[in-house]
Amino acid sequence: MIAAAPDVETVTELLRAVIDPELGADIVTLGMVPSVAVSPEGVVTVGVKLTIGGCPLRAQIKKDVESRIAVHPGVTDVRIEWGEMTADERSEVMTKARWNARENAPDTNVPLTCKVIAVASGKGGVGKSSVTVNVAAAVAAQGFTVGVLDADIWGFSVPRLLGIDEPLEAEKVEGSDRPRIMPNELVVGRGLSKGLLKVVSTGFLVQEDTALMWRGLMLAKAVEQFLRDVHWGELDYLFIDMPPGTGDVQMGLARMLPRTDLLIVTTPALAAQKVAARAADMARRSFLRVCGVIENMSAFTCEHGQSYALFGEGGGQTLADEIGVPLLGRVPIEAAVSAGGDAGAPVALDGVGPAADEFRAIARRLVDDIAPPANMAGCSARMLGLVAAALDAKDAG
Ligand SMILES: Nc1ncnc2c1ncn2[C@@H]1O[C@H](COP(=O)(O)OP(=O)(O)OP(=O)(O)O)[C@@H](O)[C@H]1O
Ligand SMILES: [Mg+2]
Repeated sequence: MIAAAPDVETVTELLRAVIDPELGADIVTLGMVPSVAVSPEGVVTVGVKLTIGGCPLRAQIKKDVESRIAVHPGVTDVRIEWGEMTADERSEVMTKARWNARENAPDTNVPLTCKVIAVASGKGGVGKSSVTVNVAAAVAAQGFTVGVLDADIWGFSVPRLLGIDEPLEAEKVEGSDRPRIMPNELVVGRGLSKGLLKVVSTGFLVQEDTALMWRGLMLAKAVEQFLRDVHWGELDYLFIDMPPGTGDVQMGLARMLPRTDLLIVTTPALAAQKVAARAADMARRSFLRVCGVIENMSAFTCEHGQSYALFGEGGGQTLADEIGVPLLGRVPIEAAVSAGGDAGAPVALDGVGPAADEFRAIARRLVDDIAPPANMAGCSARMLGLVAAALDAKDAG
């Protein structure tokens, strides 16, 4: 007896086992299967739309689709009709992937109201760490509680840049069965604009010169563990200094904190096309939103007022335009930036000069416009007001 051909529903169910590893969900859920047809002879034709035509996962998806369906009784042949998504379809699939990642995200100890901003670049040495520390400090100096997570686990520089070297302590905290890592704290600003930095880095766990020895051991999971096991407590912002490149750390972050915004740092000189492609690709692969570009090492002005564009010009704006996001600022090359880093005193805190001013302006722009803090205080105050009013009305009635 020859088995009857499966129906369309059955084939669709089989396709739910085909996962797009990049987007972290099955191709049916992601809307990548526009059509399924089964002929009476058992020939199954599946339409598959890839996010981009030259998708490197095409071969794997093909193999998975064929192997899942071909083994089903009654199937005599499997054919795939490839398609490419339109820009709209692509953005829809990203939304679905993001939603999916959020629904299945593992627990973190980062409060839900906290804005998470990861500082990344398409290339090393452009000033990610300097930008992270200065912008984080300038945001804190506006009166916020700001976490700084050094995700550059092998090449950490945040401890030096902030002048902190105390080892991290673990403590038992209420509501948790295991001890939690307590971040190192640093008070910044004064008076009304007094804020707090909460800082975590593998630099607090290992010696700089032995860090490489740990490579591939426990440190591979360090960032995920920091997100899970650090007792961040109250936090308005979390800035993450990303390691150079686009590896596991980024994917882990996307999985655990899919709401993360990427802030891309570039120099004015980098071939914008190439960096834009890499940055956009990075965002695409981890489906994180890019919230802005910061140009670092822009033209510096000497004491005679002469301006020198040592590393070229216009790269930041070009990159921002390419990705379609705002250019948040241009930080000039200034000895004060590296000197502040060496001294563990970010220039953005008490420094004077154009670089310090620019860091502070970027911080204001982030807070006022790009990623305003979740205003929970205002929220609960309003709720309390409503409750009080309701109770008054009841008492009166
Ligand atoms: N605007 C600036 N003016 C002067 N020096 C700067 C500026 N920005 C960064 N630097 C210096 O450039 C060097 C590289 O900066 P930084 O370590 O922040 O880059 P990075 O992108 O984090 O590097 P990596 O990819 O190695 O992590 C440091 O010595 C830093 O002091
Ligand atoms: Mg760095």
